[in-house]
Amino acid sequence: MEEKKGKIYIFDTTLRDGEQAPGIHLNTREKLEIAKQLEKLNVDVIEAGFPISSKSDFNSVREISKEIRNRKIAALARANFKDIDAAGEALKEAEQPVIHTFISSSDIHLKYQLKKSREEVLELAGEAVKRSRNYTDVVEFSAMDATRSDWAYLCRLYEIAIKNGATIINVPDTVGYALPDEFGEMIDYIFENTEGIENVVVSVHCHNDLGLAVANSLAAIKHGARQVECAVNGIGERAGNAALEEIVMIIDTRKNRLGMYTDINTKEIIRTSSIVRSLTGYIVAPNKAIVGKNAFSHEAGIHQDGMLKDRSTYEIIRPEDIGLKSSKLVLGKHSGRHAFVGKLNELGIHLSEENLEKAFERFKDLAEKKGAINDEDIKAIAEDEIREVTEHFLLKYYRIQSGSDINAEATVGIEINGKLHESSSTGNGPVDASFKAIDKIVNINTRLIEYNIEAVSGGKDALGSVKVVVSTNGVEVMGSGISTDIVEASIKAYVDAMNRIVENKE
Ligand code: KIV
Ligand code: ZN
Repeated sequence: MEEKKGKIYIFDTTLRDGEQAPGIHLNTREKLEIAKQLEKLNVDVIEAGFPISSKSDFNSVREISKEIRNRKIAALARANFKDIDAAGEALKEAEQPVIHTFISSSDIHLKYQLKKSREEVLELAGEAVKRSRNYTDVVEFSAMDATRSDWAYLCRLYEIAIKNGATIINVPDTVGYALPDEFGEMIDYIFENTEGIENVVVSVHCHNDLGLAVANSLAAIKHGARQVECAVNGIGERAGNAALEEIVMIIDTRKNRLGMYTDINTKEIIRTSSIVRSLTGYIVAPNKAIVGKNAFSHEAGIHQDGMLKDRSTYEIIRPEDIGLKSSKLVLGKHSGRHAFVGKLNELGIHLSEENLEKAFERFKDLAEKKGAINDEDIKAIAEDEIREVTEHFLLKYYRIQSGSDINAEATVGIEINGKLHESSSTGNGPVDASFKAIDKIVNINTRLIEYNIEAVSGGKDALGSVKVVVSTNGVEVMGSGISTDIVEASIKAYVDAMNRIVENKE
């Protein structure tokens, strides 16, 4: 990596660590959509997956490598030849491939997980990096659980990685245990005690178990780390990874004090957050910094008064700097395809011809029911189209009977391989009854573990967006659906989850 003074490299791990979060299963098309958006956001590195972990991860890394030409594409590999060869193979067509290989360094992990001695781990790390260099010139080496490791041993491990050709040395706070000042000291120690460290980029990868992932990343860059690994909306294992949008906007907002910058196109932040939220189904808390829906709302009278007098009274980031535009009512049932496409362009959404056709049909349908259509509705429709899945189960119709003095009953018609199947069930409310009717048709053993509903925009006739998470054989799968009718949105979400279970099996 060329050294640019003050530049902080953004290594995005939304598609790898982010996708490891429970319930997230993105297919290759969806990962490609996110990768394209990350390219627009202008991240430096896209970690596209962990190729050895599944056929789908392998294919995603391969497809992203083919499609995204002017970004570094990283693939994860444990420190063994099988993983590394799979990563090398998946990255074969990448223009700027990066193998990211890792092994644990803490005594806790060595004893209980790896069951290996410190010396054995040193050797494996050296061999792994050397093997990776057969495939790529840029090799990142991570010492997993670095922050709970013996610092002197950690430096020996990094030295071996550097001697064998690592160009990026990553310091993960795997379990989110570090404190900012301690992490800063640790980075100093690594710089002072690792031979060859001046020739590589030092990177950090912080988890958020104690809510300190962003603060720790910031401490590290103040102590000389030059790359931050992070994920959009902070998604990732357990409490997640450092949130990309927070790191970037801290560096941007406080650039005068920090003297650093990133190459991120901040105007793409909201759009990226929205795509990741809708494709992963991971809802963003309304008060989440930068991308929460209330992050720029001013409620208290005194704040509103200040804002009216001068925005700088209570606003440190201009909403437009992250790509927020005020939502206007723009389209309606008389709007044609041209206006619809124009609106999508304005919102930065690009759909394939096929998806565009379907989205337009749905827009017309919605406009017929609802009249005025706002930006949030259009985004929801388009993102639902992007979130494509092979429709093994095709919902044809449903009928519901429900009321305060009758048992809820649902009848659902679903087509499988061209044949229509109908089933009815009673239940504790219309959603329960419909899910039971669907269960009888799809014949998959699942447990509903999460059900979430939110209105896409304001108004009594707003689109409802339903997310469900079902568990099958210990694997969690998310499904989503939108409709002005919340029972229909629920049925669509449930059928979507069933289709994803079938897709994951194939
Ligand atoms: O959290 C972690 O340690 C990781 C490594 C693979 C970098 O995700
Ligand atoms: Zn991680």
